[in-house]
Amino acid sequence: CGVHYLPSVGSTNLEAMQLAFSGAPEGTVVVADEQTGGRGRQGRIWHSPAGCGLYVSVVLRPDIAPNEAPIITLLTNVAAAEAVHEMTGILPVCKWPNDVLIDGCKVAGNLTEIFLSGDVVSHIISGAGINVRPLPKRLVADLRTAPCSLEETAGKSISRVELLQAYLVRYEYWYLLVKEQGFALLLTRWKELTDVVGKELTVEVRGETFQGTVTDVSTDGMLLLQSSDGVEHRLFSGDIL
Ligand code: BTN
Repeated sequence: CGVHYLPSVGSTNLEAMQLAFSGAPEGTVVVADEQTGGRGRQGRIWHSPAGCGLYVSVVLRPDIAPNEAPIITLLTNVAAAEAVHEMTGILPVCKWPNDVLIDGCKVAGNLTEIFLSGDVVSHIISGAGINVRPLPKRLVADLRTAPCSLEETAGKSISRVELLQAYLVRYEYWYLLVKEQGFALLLTRWKELTDVVGKELTVEVRGETFQGTVTDVSTDGMLLLQSSDGVEHRLFSGDIL
C-alpha cells in the first residue's frame, strides 16, 4: 500500500484504478495537487486546478456483494464530512448519494467506482474532491450546485496535508468498523449527517424521475422513496433535483 503523491495527474481515480489492476493492495492512496481530467459523477467534469482542493482516491478490496457497494459511497461521504468538521468546526450536511454541503453549497463530492470479476467485487476506487480554496469564477458558471470552499466558509487558511490526514483517519476508522461490525453504525452516522430522511423529493436516475418521500436509507445504502401511491422505490444512485 502507501501514498502516491503526484503534482499533476489526469484523474486520481484513473491512476488508482491502474494501480489496482496491477495488483496494488487495499489502502493504496493516490493524491494530487492538480487534476487535468478530474471526473465527477454521471460523466461530469470535476474542476481541479492546482492548489484549489484535495483530490484523493483510495483502493479498496472489500469482501462485499456488488449490491452492497453503495455503502462505500456513504462511507466516503461521512469521512469527507467529518474531515470538514474537524478542520473548520462547521458541521456540513450529507446529501445523498455523494455530496457534502455547507449552507446548501457543495464543498465536497465523491466518485466511487466498482470493478467486478465475474459476480464478485474485485476492487473499488473511492475518490473524493474537497474544495479548499475558491475555484476561478469562469469554472463556476456551469456547475449544477453552487460550490463553496473551506477557506471561504471558515474564514481561515486550511492545510491540505492536514485535511488529507483527517480524511484518511476518518476513512480508515469507518472502513475497519464496517469490516468488523457491518454497516449499521455507519448508516446511523450518515443519517445523523443528512437532512434527506422525511423530505419530499424528486430524484432522477438515468433519465427516469421518481417522486416521493424519503422514508429511510436501506442497510445496503439505497435511498428508499415512497411515492404517493404507496410504491416504494429503492434507488441505488441518482440526482436529487
Ligand atoms: C461529484 O460530485 O460528481 C464527484 C466528484 C469526485 C471528484 C474526485 S476528485 C478525486 C477523484 N478523482 C476524480 O477524477 N474524481 C474524484
